[in-house]
Amino acid sequence: MYNDNPTIKDVKKDLNLELNKPLSEKRQGEVLDLPSDTAQKKFYIESYGCQMNFSDSEIVASVLAKDGFGSTRNMEEADLILINTCSIREKAEDTVRKRLSVFNKAKKNKPELIVGVLGCMAERLKKKFLEEEKIVDIVVGPDAYRDLPVLVAGAEDGNKGVNVFLSREETYADISPLRLGSNGVSAFISIMRGCDNMCSFCVVPFTRGRERSRDAFSIVAEAQDLFDRGYREVTLLGQNVDSYKWENPESKKNVSFAELMEMVALVSPDLRVRFSTSHPKDMTDDVLYTMAKYENICNYIHLPVQSGSSRILKLMNRTYDRDWYKERVESIYRIIPDCAISSDIIAGFCTETEEEHQETLSIIKWAKYSMSYMFFYSERPGTLAAKKYDDDIPLEVKKRRLTEIVELQTSISRDENMKDIGKTFRVLIEGDSKKSSSDFKGRNSQNKMLIFPKMPNLKPGDYVEVKVLSSTSATLKGEIV
Ligand code: 5AD
Ligand code: SF4
Repeated sequence: MYNDNPTIKDVKKDLNLELNKPLSEKRQGEVLDLPSDTAQKKFYIESYGCQMNFSDSEIVASVLAKDGFGSTRNMEEADLILINTCSIREKAEDTVRKRLSVFNKAKKNKPELIVGVLGCMAERLKKKFLEEEKIVDIVVGPDAYRDLPVLVAGAEDGNKGVNVFLSREETYADISPLRLGSNGVSAFISIMRGCDNMCSFCVVPFTRGRERSRDAFSIVAEAQDLFDRGYREVTLLGQNVDSYKWENPESKKNVSFAELMEMVALVSPDLRVRFSTSHPKDMTDDVLYTMAKYENICNYIHLPVQSGSSRILKLMNRTYDRDWYKERVESIYRIIPDCAISSDIIAGFCTETEEEHQETLSIIKWAKYSMSYMFFYSERPGTLAAKKYDDDIPLEVKKRRLTEIVELQTSISRDENMKDIGKTFRVLIEGDSKKSSSDFKGRNSQNKMLIFPKMPNLKPGDYVEVKVLSSTSATLKGEIV
């Protein structure tokens, strides 16, 4: 996850919108590019939603490349347009519908163009998509990407196609992802798929199916290959990484998440290891001790609390309460004193009282999150909450509570970042800073972004020691020492 705290200014500017979307949603509409080649047919892909979707688009690109497709960043040049979609909140789905209307215009100019919808919205709406959006030719769920060549060929012959089969086994372990839009330094590795948790607000278990873990050796091989190609940071991805569990078919022994992390950390001390997302009910001390043991496992945990109220947590079916969560945070700070923790927070869940909202504010203050992704509750069709509870908090109240949460988090991030002034951190250079090509940007172990003037002979992928000279709620500025 990434440090992209909203500021109060953003909140005011954006009050009618969902606040502080995860990085992946901020990168909405990111066009993913591959080195273009001489292929006859070209595809264009846009990805929305979580990091898992971005990672899946790299699997899709690999499947299509094997089928003879080249990529393009120019929609007009494409024979196939794909949109990898997100259903997590209503607004994410609205964005996809808007993009489809843009693709519709492109199709008017080029009737043979094929449009495909991938990902969570495809899974949620299934063949209804073909009825609702006439321009869509193929609908492909997250476990059916191997079928893309067949579906595309069918569409070329004028047959619309749907494959939304959810698998209990598919992990795409044998498919080597084509790194899209990559900085050549950091990459995502998907270690598991699906989710068995059934948080009452969440649509993911319905769109991504049952949880399954990927072959540990294929994960380590992918990390090794990335390292050999110059990458210096991998993020192990799953909806709930702490419940990773894979049985070695030869030894019949189970590999746990802590063991997997250790295997990846051993690829090289120069390969940084990150992971996301951790569920408070599953995050065990052995994961923390493994983190403490290896310098190259970053001291950063994304540990979504969702709410600070035990009653709301129960309604959310999170299966932990406030005290359990606090104990987990205390263990983190005890075992890894300089660990940064970030969170996801939902404002205005069904029946939430003002006192319960205050409990959310107080846990944010107590946990001292380095940053949070903050949302107001958006009812999703088919979820447990939609079936059982009334979405009874008025929108203005949800938004006001969310604003209070964002303002508090911003001030905590500012205070915490101020404490970093004068400290020196090991930073992995990711590339040029957004604002100036005379500065580099890179992260410290705690996942905080640092900006610092370039020095000769340094390049992305190098490690440097940077002393922090000033800070804001979102970034640290410094100089190489
Ligand atoms: N409404 C608002 N936020 C949600 N999230 C998941 N479902 C919903 C919903 N229905 C948030 C949770 C989760 C993050 C990925 O998105 O905080 O951790
Ligand atoms: Fe959704 Fe909960 Fe699973 Fe996360 S852990 S994907 S919030 S059901």
